[in-house]
Amino acid sequence: TWTMAAYREKMVEKIREQVGSGRVICALSGGVDSSVAAVLIHEAIGEQLTCIFVDHGLMRLNEADEVVSMFREQYNIPLVHVDAADRFIGALEGESDPEVKRKTIGRLFIETFEEEAEKLGGAQFLAQGTLYPDVIESVSFTGGPSVTIKSHHNVGGLPERMNMKLVEPLRELFKDEVRALGRELGLPEKFVGRHPFPGPGLAIRCPGGVTREKLDILRKADAIYLDEIRKAGLYDTIWQAFAVLLPVQTVGVMGDGRTYEFVCALRAVTSVDGMTADFYPYDMAFLGKTATRIINEVRGINRVVYDVTSKPPGTIEWE
Ligand code: XMP
Repeated sequence: TWTMAAYREKMVEKIREQVGSGRVICALSGGVDSSVAAVLIHEAIGEQLTCIFVDHGLMRLNEADEVVSMFREQYNIPLVHVDAADRFIGALEGESDPEVKRKTIGRLFIETFEEEAEKLGGAQFLAQGTLYPDVIESVSFTGGPSVTIKSHHNVGGLPERMNMKLVEPLRELFKDEVRALGRELGLPEKFVGRHPFPGPGLAIRCPGGVTREKLDILRKADAIYLDEIRKAGLYDTIWQAFAVLLPVQTVGVMGDGRTYEFVCALRAVTSVDGMTADFYPYDMAFLGKTATRIINEVRGINRVVYDVTSKPPGTIEWE
């Protein structure tokens, strides 16, 4: 739309003004937000931008590779891919408190990022895809006086010692506006239309302790679930959908045998901006078919449940 074209021009000017001839490093997460921010900043200042993709090993199936190839091959944006899975998963092992998990991921992200930035010879500016709802929710939430609901690891996590200024060109935008801006910038529809994915990744969709084994199980279930959603033509109607691997094992029966495996919860919501959300009212046939596929195809899961909680009182993510 003309509005987004104007916004694009305004932000390109603003970024140039703020950055001058300085160097900018962008924390690329693989999601729509940081990608749109990176492409916009690249348009404004070109090679003064380098992206650092801290791969925490908590991405969905094939996601990390897709992001890296899109940026390097399609957009020619300089990108450093850091494989930090051992570091993150190692630090998370045995930890089940949601806020500690979030803070651990946030801290490791900063540390890893800082090391890589140093290797690049530093920069004066740090670019982030922070959105308006991130800004609000990190400070407070409707109803309570400055209660932190969740520590978002992509906001305000910049330690002063890094001595970098923030470039956050999406700070005024809601999610749907970021998508419109992404389209305006020529990002592929399939990428722009992707559901949001949280910075702490699959760690907050594995309540309790996180292990490589659990992450692998969750990845498979999540991919099947999303595949069924796409096949049913529901992907664009749903604002966000994902699987959660519960730290609960239940008894089941398969063939002649007893099973004792994990429970997988499915989540799907409609929303405008993520601030409030309604659970998606699937028909039972869809849920039954998806559950059957997950249980048949994913070793480690023998029961599937559907989350019918809206936000509020629930939040979209489970942690
Ligand atoms: P909640 O769970 O708070 O989530 O209802 C609202 C939206 O924010 C996403 N989310 C995050 N995004 N870093 C992010 O970039 C985070 O730490 C984070 N936590 C939640 C969530 O997926 C939903 O879209």
